[in-house]
Amino acid sequence: MPPSALYTAACEILQENDRGTYTVPTKGLYPFQWNWDSCLTALGQRHLDEARAWLEIATLLEHQWPDGMVPHIIFHQEDDGYFPGPQVWDTQRPTPTSGITQPPVLGFVLRRLFEQAQNRELAEQQVRALLPKAARWHQWFFSCRDPQHTGLVALLHPWEAGRDNSVDWDDAFRQVPTEGIQPYVRRDTQHVNAAERPTQQEYDRFLWLVQHFRNLGWDNTRLHEASPFRVVDPGFNAILLRSEMDLAWLAERLGQAELAATLHARMDRTQQAFASLWNAEQGQYQPYDRCRNQLIESFSIAGVLPLFAGVGSPEQQQAMAARVAHLRKQVQFGVPSHDPADARFDARRYWRGPVWLIMNYMVWDGLARHGFTAEAQQVVQDSLALIRNSGFAEYYDPLDGAPCGGTRFTWTAAMVLEFLKASPEAPLATSQAA
Ligand code: DGY
Repeated sequence: MPPSALYTAACEILQENDRGTYTVPTKGLYPFQWNWDSCLTALGQRHLDEARAWLEIATLLEHQWPDGMVPHIIFHQEDDGYFPGPQVWDTQRPTPTSGITQPPVLGFVLRRLFEQAQNRELAEQQVRALLPKAARWHQWFFSCRDPQHTGLVALLHPWEAGRDNSVDWDDAFRQVPTEGIQPYVRRDTQHVNAAERPTQQEYDRFLWLVQHFRNLGWDNTRLHEASPFRVVDPGFNAILLRSEMDLAWLAERLGQAELAATLHARMDRTQQAFASLWNAEQGQYQPYDRCRNQLIESFSIAGVLPLFAGVGSPEQQQAMAARVAHLRKQVQFGVPSHDPADARFDARRYWRGPVWLIMNYMVWDGLARHGFTAEAQQVVQDSLALIRNSGFAEYYDPLDGAPCGGTRFTWTAAMVLEFLKASPEAPLATSQAA
């Protein structure tokens, strides 16, 4: 498949999943607007229509909560093909939303949209409107998910990480009870092979947490202390830190010195706090269970994401690049979301091993920004090889490249447009003309 055909196929998927003011991740399995899906989708949309990309973000931020949180799902219309729907969340928002958040790639995306915009006037107008909302969301993270001011925020639900069933929190998640959950019927396994999705036990715990938070009225001043699940994920915190940096960059460009100074002070604290998660033996960062006050012995792709935020000394960055190489060399297609050498690795089960193009994108960016150019390019090549072999899947088996999860997936298509732009094999300028 030549680059021009990849480009055309990716554009078709973005258009097919476009609902006018927001984009669904895929038909059937995910029929609403998801937070980080939308932000990363905007990166792809900008190659087709910059105004549409800005609209994707503006729509998401219209549903920001009064306390500053940007929810992980916006239920724009009814669709009983997804569970748990708005009645289960019962968040009492004018347009129903979920009650938890998702990785804040927003700040990073805003900068990229702004910095590379063709339409400068539109970009400046959009960033002036969206930056205060993004900054409020970041403030919310540090007030509600880091009440002890450690510099690192905790996830209160695995869905917040976006890496729902990662090995990283197997033990921490087992502390969540399952008693008293209301009977429910899963919908995800009606769309996708159950062997590629989280287990029933995990779903019971996902639901217990939703019920628990709902019973607390979704009051974010109480949830952190009341949650039996509080995990500090290096991947999530790296994304937040990178977005903090990019919001600070934007604030400086727009002459908002006070906001830039606030962000810089927080960034310094976070950079320092990362040291507590470093594992020298593994050469990567590791998660921390804030309920039980202990580091978690799990070494997933999240532990190299700090490269994306420029965290660590040059030696630590070198070690993380070596970890990426270690992950890649055990599989046919990189980068697996969990180390295949770990007995808990599962090549097809969602976040326990499969390759995700959005992770590849952040790993690629992190490698490239630290000068690991050849390694970065290998990640792009693996990503495009997966698309050529298996189409635009939600995720892929790293051992044989089989497509897994949902099909014709929006953010996979968006990442392909980004990789085509970056790849010497196929500069987007050429493919766009095709
Ligand atoms: C799901 O339903 O699979 C999602 O990951 C939750 O956001």
